[in-house]
Amino acid sequence: MNDIRTGSGHPALRPERIGRLTLANRLAVAPMTRVSAAPDGTPTPEMADYYAAYAEGGFGLLISEGTYTDTVYSQGYLNQPGIVSGEHAEAWRRITERVHAAGARFVMQLMHAGALSQGNRYRDDTAGPSAVLPRGEKMPEYGGSGTWPAPKAMTPADIETAVDGFVRSAVRARQAGFDGVEVHGANGYLVDQFLTDYTNLRDDSYGGPVSGRVRLAAEMVAAIRAEVGADFCVGIRLSQTKVNDFAHRWPGGGHDAKIIFAALAEAGASYLHIASEGRDWIETARLDGGATITGLARQVTGLPVIANGGMHDLARAAQVLSDGHADLVSVGRGALANPDLPRRLGEGRPPAEFDHMMLQPMATLGNARLWRQAARI
Ligand SMILES: Cc1cc2nc3c(=O)[nH]c(=O)nc-3n(C[C@H](O)[C@H](O)[C@H](O)COP(=O)(O)O)c2cc1C
Repeated sequence: MNDIRTGSGHPALRPERIGRLTLANRLAVAPMTRVSAAPDGTPTPEMADYYAAYAEGGFGLLISEGTYTDTVYSQGYLNQPGIVSGEHAEAWRRITERVHAAGARFVMQLMHAGALSQGNRYRDDTAGPSAVLPRGEKMPEYGGSGTWPAPKAMTPADIETAVDGFVRSAVRARQAGFDGVEVHGANGYLVDQFLTDYTNLRDDSYGGPVSGRVRLAAEMVAAIRAEVGADFCVGIRLSQTKVNDFAHRWPGGGHDAKIIFAALAEAGASYLHIASEGRDWIETARLDGGATITGLARQVTGLPVIANGGMHDLARAAQVLSDGHADLVSVGRGALANPDLPRRLGEGRPPAEFDHMMLQPMATLGNARLWRQAARI
């Protein structure tokens, strides 16, 4: 079929640019934690096969799972990959080579879990903007159970260590062959804890009004940019919803959003990626009068914007791109079910349905392999 929504004429299949990066199409694999690295955070050969499959399936851009950035408070889950040593970078290099050989671009998501850490081989306590008990409970699919403890309120020195970890990790990611990094500022983790009014009760310059709460995110982007130069892609992912709060919305309609987006563009971000944790784009992106949060991000910054949340609905993805709500779409669960989604789209083959059982009892690559064997896929 050669229809705008289901065949080779689909707008997602057109090439795109992010800064100096050229992409074969506008379909990105969303970052997805798979807790399948070695206990010391070293990526494995199985992870190389996993990422290569998306590149071979035609995705123009891959964004890695959230990868921890220091040996203090950043790690979020046991068996999460890290980028804190030369050994980590070397193992990632073997993965970036496979991805590049198949023609895709690869960005590493840099993640600090903050108060939502549920497994850290370096220490038992957690740190966040303020000593506020996190809402909700730890996630079993990443090996957690029960409630999170209240974090220690980070000192200025702790904040400096966290920023420094992101900068050093970005440099290591570049050495490992990545085309860019994405600061994980979404879904309730450290950077989002600073952005959020009810988890950030600080009375210093990192708290208070939204212009203070966005300061950590902007400092991270600016510090990475200063170190890696203009050529390297430095994106940031944001979201209103969180893994432990699907109802949260930035206050003031688009008012706070505009301040956040402008600060990040000013800091030197290459793109903005707006996630829809636990909900889909249509629900999380809507503003009054038919406007959307992703469209607003484009207008305010003039930067490429990636929309996320239910984009495996390819008619929805076509509408989002054609109506100017975003420049790219990222696909999470739909990519798990269809590592070859872009090829299917080009050939007019319908995508397979995502089955959440492939992530049970934990979201590991090993469990997905067992699920495929049982399903004979
Ligand atoms: C197994 C799994 C792991 C995820 N891990 C991450 C992560 O490491 N970083 C992140 O920003 N989002 C993560 N997400 C959220 C996805 O990137 C995405 O925003 C979400 O699945 C909604 O998009 P979708 O409707 O295309 O699945 C994860 C989602 C899943 C299903």
